[in-house]
Amino acid sequence: MINKMGLENDIQYVLLSEEQIKAKVRELGAAISRDYAGKNPLLVCILRGAVPFFADLCKEITDYMEMDFMAVSSYEDGMTSHGIVRIKKDMDKSIEGRHVIIVEDIMDSGNTLNHLTRLLGTRNPASLKIACLLDKPERRTCEITPDYFGFIVPDEFVVGYGLDYAEAYRNLPYIGVLKPEVYTDVK
Ligand code: IMP
Ligand code: MG
Repeated sequence: MINKMGLENDIQYVLLSEEQIKAKVRELGAAISRDYAGKNPLLVCILRGAVPFFADLCKEITDYMEMDFMAVSSYEDGMTSHGIVRIKKDMDKSIEGRHVIIVEDIMDSGNTLNHLTRLLGTRNPASLKIACLLDKPERRTCEITPDYFGFIVPDEFVVGYGLDYAEAYRNLPYIGVLKPEVYTDVK
């Protein structure tokens, strides 16, 4: 457990408020509803970071859709990527012939989603797209962009609304930047 000063006190500043996130998720839901009308898309939530975004996004989709879940690991406890993506939990459903949308919290280096789209592409979906709430294009190390994204964020470590630092802060209803002392004082 990290040495927190109190959940809210650990935040340097709020980058995206609850209201901003809600409005954006509504827009994304409307776009997906329009683009996938009559296609019964399968939305795949990447555990655990995408959970709040996934839940809110699905509620903004106004046509038939299905849910599935995958867990992968690329970052372990800290803030740097290992460059290794491991499938910890695979989907339950077959995606053959399905219109699949991978739902993720953030695209950073792009390593995780690059690996995942390659893997899922071999399972013959009818189509495969990516919806990310946040995009950090400055950090990209491979050629990949989300098909749907909410906000472009600067190269800063953000937490909240599913995003964690050492598993904490996922429950904050907004997205904020951590105070540097929170991650320099620990361990
Ligand atoms: P990528 O493979 O480098 O694109 O990393 C994607 C994963 O890294 C995301 O699913 C997050 O779990 C994590 N990540 C990247 N940037 C941040 C951040 O600023 N805060 C929290 N998690 C992050
Ligand atoms: Mg994650």
